[in-house]
Amino acid sequence: MTRPKVLVARAIFPETIARLAQHFDVEANQADEAWGKEQFVARLQGKAGVFTTGSERVDGELLDACPQLKICANMAVGYNNFDVDAMTARGVLATNAPDVLTETTADFGFALLMATARRIAESEHYLRRGEWTRWRFDMFAGSDIHGSTLGIIGMGRIGQGIARRGALGFGMKVIYHNRSRLDAATEAQCQAIYVGKEELLRTADHVVLVVPYSPASHHTIGAAELALMKPSATLVNIARGGIVDDAALAAALRDKRIAAAGLDVFEGEPKVHPDLLTVPNVVLTPHIASATVPTRRAMADLAVDNLIAYLTRGEAKTPLNPAVLSAPRK
Ligand code: GLV
Repeated sequence: MTRPKVLVARAIFPETIARLAQHFDVEANQADEAWGKEQFVARLQGKAGVFTTGSERVDGELLDACPQLKICANMAVGYNNFDVDAMTARGVLATNAPDVLTETTADFGFALLMATARRIAESEHYLRRGEWTRWRFDMFAGSDIHGSTLGIIGMGRIGQGIARRGALGFGMKVIYHNRSRLDAATEAQCQAIYVGKEELLRTADHVVLVVPYSPASHHTIGAAELALMKPSATLVNIARGGIVDDAALAAALRDKRIAAAGLDVFEGEPKVHPDLLTVPNVVLTPHIASATVPTRRAMADLAVDNLIAYLTRGEAKTPLNPAVLSAPRK
């Protein structure tokens, strides 16, 4: 019996490839070549499944050019690289990698918040430049985390993890805004109070964005929203590029309309808006919020679990369009 063919779109752990190879004929991009759309389509010919990492675009046009493709397994919780409606319409299963990265990503959100509020990157660069010749009372004086008000926009699993860290670990007052309000038990567990977006922006000392990207959440934070924030406030984006208008943010940072920002994601990444590179009061990291070795392994394993479950048994652990399980592509 011929085995299904699977494509792995980006370099990944050798163990991940070895697991897939127990079940499938695997073509892997361990050289991590940057494929354009045409090359991606060419590599997908004859493949029943693809392991994606969150940056490979899968849309109706691609699916029509790859009629044998049955499942796209994203090694990411976010899946704005997938046109899920187009996938569902064609009976192609989409899966993502939730849960396994929640606590790691919440840790990072907090790390970035602390680095931003306490000006850790800026002061480290100063020291490395050899500029530290004398102590001064106001050197890199930032803002407090403990006892301050933390505003979280997007209160899914990761937002809740950040809320728990803030409330239980740092005695913060936690306010949040979300498309829908959490149930009372979850609010109590996170010690979080639901407020409108405008109230959150006006009153939070620190605003953390954890909202999924969609056309509706594009530029959740733009010039108008930044203008509502306190001049002493910090803004952290660990969600997706495009949630923040990066040009407007760079201008607000330059003019000190807010104190500082911490960004792990960018519009058009890996390109970074040039103005963000010239302002000192921003901490910039290259989309690494889930990057610990155990978590990246767990994410890869979950994507593999989905490929194996679907292509060998017609099941899936974390389907995004479960309707496909009963109406698969023939
Ligand atoms: C990372 O950004 C993810 O969506 O997992």
